Amino acid sequence: MSLVPGVTTSVFAYNDHIPGPTLVVNEGDHVIVHFTNDLPEPTTVHWHGIHLPFESDGSPFHPIAPGQKRDYVFTVPAGSAGTYWYHPHPDRRTGFAIGKGLFGGIIVRGPNDPLRDLPEQLLVLSDNRFLSDGAVDFPDAQSAPGSVDEENGREGPVLFVNGQVNPTIAIRSGEVQRWRIVNASAGRIYRLALAGQSFLLVGTGGGLIEKPVEMKEIVLATGERVEILVRGTGAPGSRTLLLNLPYDRYAPQTRPRDWQTTRDLLTLQTTTDPPMQPVTVPARLRQITPLDTSKVTAVRTVVFGQGMINGKLMDMGRVDISTHVGATEIWEIENVVGMDHPFHLHGFQFQVLDRDGVREPFLAWKDMLNIPKHSSARIIVRYDEYPGKWMFHCHILDHEDHGMMGVLEVKP
Ligand code: C2O
Ligand code: CU
Ligand code: CU
Repeated sequence: MSLVPGVTTSVFAYNDHIPGPTLVVNEGDHVIVHFTNDLPEPTTVHWHGIHLPFESDGSPFHPIAPGQKRDYVFTVPAGSAGTYWYHPHPDRRTGFAIGKGLFGGIIVRGPNDPLRDLPEQLLVLSDNRFLSDGAVDFPDAQSAPGSVDEENGREGPVLFVNGQVNPTIAIRSGEVQRWRIVNASAGRIYRLALAGQSFLLVGTGGGLIEKPVEMKEIVLATGERVEILVRGTGAPGSRTLLLNLPYDRYAPQTRPRDWQTTRDLLTLQTTTDPPMQPVTVPARLRQITPLDTSKVTAVRTVVFGQGMINGKLMDMGRVDISTHVGATEIWEIENVVGMDHPFHLHGFQFQVLDRDGVREPFLAWKDMLNIPKHSSARIIVRYDEYPGKWMFHCHILDHEDHGMMGVLEVKP
């Protein structure tokens, strides 16, 4: 495949595309995905953020050997309309497999979408690093660059939006577009801004929030998704940029030298058509019921340390947290080290209660939460419906692959 000019790159790909085909489904759909592993190594397909049976989660518990097939079967839950993504999740090899090109977007549509009439874009962000012959650069783990990748999470200088470098999106003056943005990067946390204009945050990983929130920039952790509304505020023929602003997630020893560089992600080109009648954005998008803190039966503590969770490395034979279907719990997640670690829980969406003791400003469903260096957060989660063994982990893939992951067992 040609990813950088002048050379070809040997990749892994879903149906020969990077990103893989976008899966568009409706709430209530019964989904069956027939998957064949034509790779030379074991893999899985994990449906990141989707509430589904354990056997279909595509976690490291259910590897698919080379040449083997598997059907992933699930029913898309009511109320789950939103933006998700899929990627491999093999034991210790997730960063390699995603870096080779395996990731794709999922859009779940709901019956009462107040934004259904807006034109829509799915933007899957990724970054990569290549050798001069075009090969994806995975340095030897023992080498100096290899150990920097292991510490930071592998980043690359080439930023892709839907597999393209700095693509152009056309917008008409006065138009409002809905952008669903997925961070499929291994380690890069984006700080997104539109040069010269604000946008409206309308959704997080688990779908719409209650009301639009005006923002100038937003931090998007690895694995995280947001939905924003972008307004064509420019004059006909003008252009602006979607930027990645500097974001210091790093430990000082391995912080990249160019971390303060602002990078262009895409060009927003206002067409020469005359401005259209202004579109009104609904003031209310959805109602979210807060999870009931009076029902909480346990408070869990998760401490992110240097490459470990609660002082332990991942062990698939161990259960780190044991609970049962229907329980509501609070997790206190604390990052005691000098770099950010984005927290992810499989199978169940959660709500954030507070961050560093500061109450979360609005209700939202999430499956990703960045825990910045030396900070903490409290989330609340209810384990609805599906028993099983569910992973929770840092979504910096090098950290996950090196054991920054635990097992939550939900008993029937
Ligand atoms: Cu997107 Cu366990 O991962
Ligand atoms: Cu996941
Ligand atoms: Cu981490």
